[in-house]
Amino acid sequence: MVGVLELGKEWPVARTVSDAVRVLDVIVGFDPRDHEATQRAAKFIPAGGYKQFLNPNGLKGKRLGIVRNPFLKSLNESIFPIFEHHLNTLRERGAAVVDNLEIANISTIVNPSQSGELTLMMAEFKLFLNDYLKDLLTSPVWSLADIIAFNKNNPDLEKTEEYGQDTFIAAEKTNGIGEKETKAIELMEKLSQNGFEKLMKENNLDAMVTPGSGATSVLAIGGYPGITVPAGYDINGMPFGICFGGLKYTEPKLIEIAYDFEQATMMRKPPPLVSFQMTPEFLFESS
Ligand SMILES: *[C@@H]1O[C@H](CO)[C@@H](O)[C@H](O)[C@H]1NC(C)=O
Ligand SMILES: *[C@@H]1O[C@H](CO)[C@@H](O)[C@H](O)[C@H]1NC(C)=O
Repeated sequence: MVGVLELGKEWPVARTVSDAVRVLDVIVGFDPRDHEATQRAAKFIPAGGYKQFLNPNGLKGKRLGIVRNPFLKSLNESIFPIFEHHLNTLRERGAAVVDNLEIANISTIVNPSQSGELTLMMAEFKLFLNDYLKDLLTSPVWSLADIIAFNKNNPDLEKTEEYGQDTFIAAEKTNGIGEKETKAIELMEKLSQNGFEKLMKENNLDAMVTPGSGATSVLAIGGYPGITVPAGYDINGMPFGICFGGLKYTEPKLIEIAYDFEQATMMRKPPPLVSFQMTPEFLFESS
């Protein structure tokens, strides 16, 4: 599973770096309905798109910073030797590896209720969902409030008892970008400046390398790009990835790094689909 982060926490999931980059080529660009977020970024899209950065020697000459804390300790210890092996692979492929770097205030950054991430996400979720729903031509629901009512009125269909809708209800109680949300935005900006941005610049890095998927918050709160590549399986068969994150508009470098790493390691195994009843066509398409 490969994820490319573009804005916020939208991670298209694909089988390979090449597939993910093809998705990126389709989703980037100016969108008048998402004017603010996409206008500034659009001029950084390289002519000819991102496929040109699928470079099998993309690690050569790159400077990578390894941040272990707190990501490594949340993974099963059986992956530790695999992770060390991958760091050696990065070196062998020609990258300079700076190990054991730390992000300032990392425990705040990875806690969404402390960093401001959750506060803003709740308010934006309501705003943008309502904005989307209100323009639909035909729909059983036209707002978040409608969805909450629909779930209440259709508990069997929506498994409302089983899953609840606490997040919807909490989001519905928000009221746009007010004082609290503005403070949350400012806090995330400050945390990013003093944390990830400083780490990248002080160490002159092309990418930050972290085990697992825990670094998504580090990247999301500042709107930084990242890509996660399969890195192996723990003793219980649980897959884990290695995440490469970079400063804004450095997608070309991240793709070069991720593609070379993927081609050198090829850790992904197609998931065993034994528990499904499969038609031959389904097997063919998903293998
Ligand atoms: C890692 O997996 C093994 C085997 O299932 C288990 O005994 C161990 O407690 C796990 N370690 C952690 C930190 O969860
Ligand atoms: C984060 O850490 C730095 C350095 O340790 C500190 O100066 C700063 O005030 C902290 N807080 C935020 C919100 O960045």
